[in-house]
Amino acid sequence: MKHIIDSKDFSREFLTSLFEKTDDIIKNTGKYSESLKGKVIATLFYEPSTRTRLSFESAVLRLGGSVISTENAEEISSVKKGETLEDTIKTIENYAEAIIIRHKDDDAGKTAASISNVPIINAGSGKKHHPTQALLDLYTIQREKEKIDNISILVMGDLRYGRTIHSLLELLSLYQNIKVYGYPIKGLEMDANFKIMLKEKGVHYIEVQSFDDVPASIDIIYQTRIQKERFTQNEEVHEIIINQNIMDKFSEKTLLMHPLPRNNEISNELDRDKRSIYFKQAKNGMFVRMAILHELLNK
Ligand code: NCD
Repeated sequence: MKHIIDSKDFSREFLTSLFEKTDDIIKNTGKYSESLKGKVIATLFYEPSTRTRLSFESAVLRLGGSVISTENAEEISSVKKGETLEDTIKTIENYAEAIIIRHKDDDAGKTAASISNVPIINAGSGKKHHPTQALLDLYTIQREKEKIDNISILVMGDLRYGRTIHSLLELLSLYQNIKVYGYPIKGLEMDANFKIMLKEKGVHYIEVQSFDDVPASIDIIYQTRIQKERFTQNEEVHEIIINQNIMDKFSEKTLLMHPLPRNNEISNELDRDKRSIYFKQAKNGMFVRMAILHELLNK
C-alpha cells in the first residue's frame, strides 16, 4: 500500500498484519528505533489538531525520523498567496519522504495522493475520512475485546459530520455479524446513502432515539462531539450526554470510547469508570501510527 487515504482501501489481511505489527512495536519499541532513520516526514495540517498531529510526530521521532511541520497550514504564506493544494504537495514532496495531511475538504487526501510522488497519509479530511483514527479505534476494540467479529456497537452524537464514525464503520463492515446501533443528535442524523452502503456490506444498522432502545449488553458505546465547525448555517442542536447514571444501565463489560476532544458529551465523573477507555485509545494511537509509518516507509 502506498498511501493511507480512505478506510475503504483496507482489507482484513492488511488490518490483521498492521495490528500484529502494532503489538510488536508496543512490546519491542526499541527494535524499531531506526526504522525511519534519515527520513523526514512533513505534517501539513489545515485544521486544528492535538492528538493526531502530536501522536504522528511522536511516532516519527520514536522511529528515528525527523519532522517538519505546519500546524496552521490555512494561515501559511502559500495559502494566503492563493496556492492550490496540488502545488503545495508538489513542493513539499521535495522536502519529505511522506506527507501527513489534515484538511477541511472530504477529498483532500485523494487529491493529494493523485499527484504526490511520496506517500500521503490522510489525518482527517472533511466529514468523511479519518482512516488512521479508525485504525486505532479498531485496534483498541480488538485489544480490549479480543475479537472484532460479532461485536455490537452504539455510535452516537454527530452522525452527520463526524468523520471518525464514518471511517470506523467502513472498517467494521469487513467483519462478520457486526451490529451497529445509531443514536444521532436530532438534526445530525447519518446520511441515507451511508446507511444503504452499510446494509449492502452486510452491517446490521438500527437507528434508535433513546438509550432505552439499546441492549444493556452492548459491547461498545462510541460517543462523539458535535462538529460545529462543519455547520453550514447556525443550527440549534442539543448534545446527548452520557453520565454515570446512564453508564450504570449498561453491562460491566460495555466499553466507552470517544476519539477526543470531548466537550460535555461525556461527564468527567466517567473518567474514573474502568469501562472508559478514551485515553487508552489516544495512547494506542501513537503505536498504531508507528506501525503505519513503518509499513509505508520501511518496506
Ligand atoms: C477527531 C477529528 O478530528 O475528526 N479528533 C481526532 O482526530 N482525535 C474528532 C473530533 O474532532 O471531534
